[in-house]
Formats: sequence, C-alpha cells, structure tokens
Amino acid sequence: MKDFAGKICFVTGGASGAGLGQAKVFGREGMKVAIADIRQDALDNAVEELIAFGIKREDILAIRLDLTNREEYTAAANKVEDVFGGPPHLLIQTAGVNSFGPVEASTFEDFDWVIGVCMQHVINGLVIFVPRMIKAYAHKTEFHVATTSSMGGFFPCPGCGPYGAAKAAVDNLMYSYDAALIPYGSGATVLCPGNINSNIGNAEKYRPEKLKNTGYHVSEGTMMHLRSVHAGGIDPVELGEILKEAIENQRVIALPDHDYDNHAATLHAMFEGIADLALTRELRQVKAAERAAKQVKNPDKHGPQKWEVPEGAEPFGQARKDLDWIDESKRK
Ligand code: NAI
Repeated sequence: MKDFAGKICFVTGGASGAGLGQAKVFGREGMKVAIADIRQDALDNAVEELIAFGIKREDILAIRLDLTNREEYTAAANKVEDVFGGPPHLLIQTAGVNSFGPVEASTFEDFDWVIGVCMQHVINGLVIFVPRMIKAYAHKTEFHVATTSSMGGFFPCPGCGPYGAAKAAVDNLMYSYDAALIPYGSGATVLCPGNINSNIGNAEKYRPEKLKNTGYHVSEGTMMHLRSVHAGGIDPVELGEILKEAIENQRVIALPDHDYDNHAATLHAMFEGIADLALTRELRQVKAAERAAKQVKNPDKHGPQKWEVPEGAEPFGQARKDLDWIDESKRK
C-alpha cells in the first residue's frame, strides 16, 4: 500500500504510545484516523494531540471500547463505517499490555489478561474487519492489515511468558494473513519493536478488576522501574514511520531500524536460537555461546539500555512474595 491520502485507518490502542504515534503518522499522510482505546481520558488527550499535530478534527474518530469484547468491537467497526463511509483501508492493531514475572508464577488471570489484549483482540479485529475490507476494496483500491507485536515473540520469555506466547501467535497470524491477502491485492505486516517510549509501564493500573489476581510482585515501585526502562525506548512517531515504510514496501516483518542487514542478522540469530531448541541441552549451550561470541548487533539502537532500578523503585519481574514454590534456593 502506497497511497494513504483520503483513506481510512483504524488504530487500536490509538490513545497512547505506539498507537498514537501511528495515528499521527498516517493522519499526516491525509488518512481519516479512528483511534480505539479502553481509556476515555487518554482518548480525549490523544484527540487534542492529533489536532496539535496538524490533523483536522473531522478526520479523527475516537472510540472507547474494550477490544477483547466482540460485541463492543463489532459496534466500533459499524461506527467507523457510519462516520467515515466504509471499513478501514488500513487496520493497525496495536493495543497491548504486559506484566512481568517468572512464568512459573503465572495465574490464569495473568494469562487471560495479557493474552486477551495482545492476542484475542487481534483475532477479534481480523475476524470482524478483514471480510469487510475484502468486500469493499479487493482489486479496487489498496488496503492492508498490520499488527504491533514485539521482539519478545521471537525468543523464549521466562520473565513474561504470556506476553511472548501472545506475540509469537500474532506474528504467525500475520504471516498467514499476508499469504492469504496477496491474491486480493493486499498484504499484512507485523511490527516487532524492542522498547518504545510509551505508557505501557502503567498498564497494571487499569487491569480489569476480575483479572487482578496475579502471581507476580506488582507495586507502584515496580511500575516506576518499568517506566524508567521504557523512557529509553524509540519515539512512537519514529516507530510509526518505520511501520509506514514497511507497509509501502510490502515487508511482512518490520523491525525498529531501517537497516535490512541488521534485521536479517538479528532475525537469523533469533530463529537459529529457536531451531536450536531441538538440540540436546548440552549442544544448545555450546551453540548459544558461539552465537554470543559472534555478538550480532541488536538493530534496536533505542533498545533497553538502562535496566538500573531508580531510587524509590523496586525491580519488576519478581514473583509474588507468598508463592512457596518460587524460592531462589530452588533455582540453582
Ligand atoms: P501504551 O500503554 O502506551 O499503549 C497501549 C494502549 O492500549 C493504551 O492506550 C491502552 O489503554 C490500550 N489498551 C489496553 N488494553 C485495552 C483493551 N482491552 N481495549 C482497548 N484498549 C486497550 O503501550 P505501547 O507500548 O505503546 O504498546 C503498544 C504495543 O506495542 C503493544 O502491543 C505492546 O505490546 C507493543 N510493544 C511495546 C513495547 C514497549 O517497549 N513499550 C515493546 C514492544 C512491543
């Protein structure tokens, strides 16, 4: 997809962070932008930010909904058609949450929350929107489907298992949708950043009441640590430009750098790591050491550089303190 002006873009999680950056980038291209998010206050601020960025008020539609709720998502899709006159030409599914802790500490609620937002909402959008997009646009005009995943989908994530699983699943879905949509004159892209300067470090604050039971240690202090890590991440508008370049050039995977050689080297190293899981543990360790010695440069130059725990914060990623099977003495 290369021509954006006058077309419709629907961005989930568009009230903040990466999603708001994408709304700015595609709004600046002349698209009408619908932003969908669960937080009304964030949506209100985002509309003001988009206007200040130069996007016309009449080209912005803010919709409050819980994207994991299929009825609400269907109603939002209907609203976009009513207000903008058709389904989106560009669907970007970016809403996400994360919660860090040892995967063996995870509760059902940890899985349900993170997989609900990071994977189920993507499935909802694909099932609700893609048929409408095909009917309206196939071989008439350009259209495209994109999802914001994470580098976390490419390797084992013992410190955020539900998140890594959800992201690996949406990666694969985007590979499938790209192959499926090519015959309709369309395609799919999955954006896989490492670290974004966003508000995801506050996600626990609006975790739904019924999913509050977590196996991880979560506090104001752990959120403070997370925020300090994300503050070093890529700027959301810069990341939005990277997604735009990937869509224009029909890349299925978009990584947070424009340098394809670095992409390829990093992806090969990551996929090699996955392929090595079929080796015996001994051989795997030998190969991992060899790869570390080669030191493939991480293309995410904005990536997590700063992991220190700021004063007054607590390290994130620990288990809830009362779990009696998670004890450092058992982890040799
Ligand atoms: P963010 O917190 O700034 O934005 C995410 C938005 O999703 C928020 O506005 C939030 O209200 C919305 N949201 C969450 N649950 C929702 C629900 N049930 N219904 C509707 N909206 C909901 O975070 P960020 O970082 O911009 O996240 C965007 C995407 O980028 C996510 O998919 C995340 O997994 C991914 N990502 C983030 C990284 C980071 O370092 N921040 C790194 C790699 C990927």
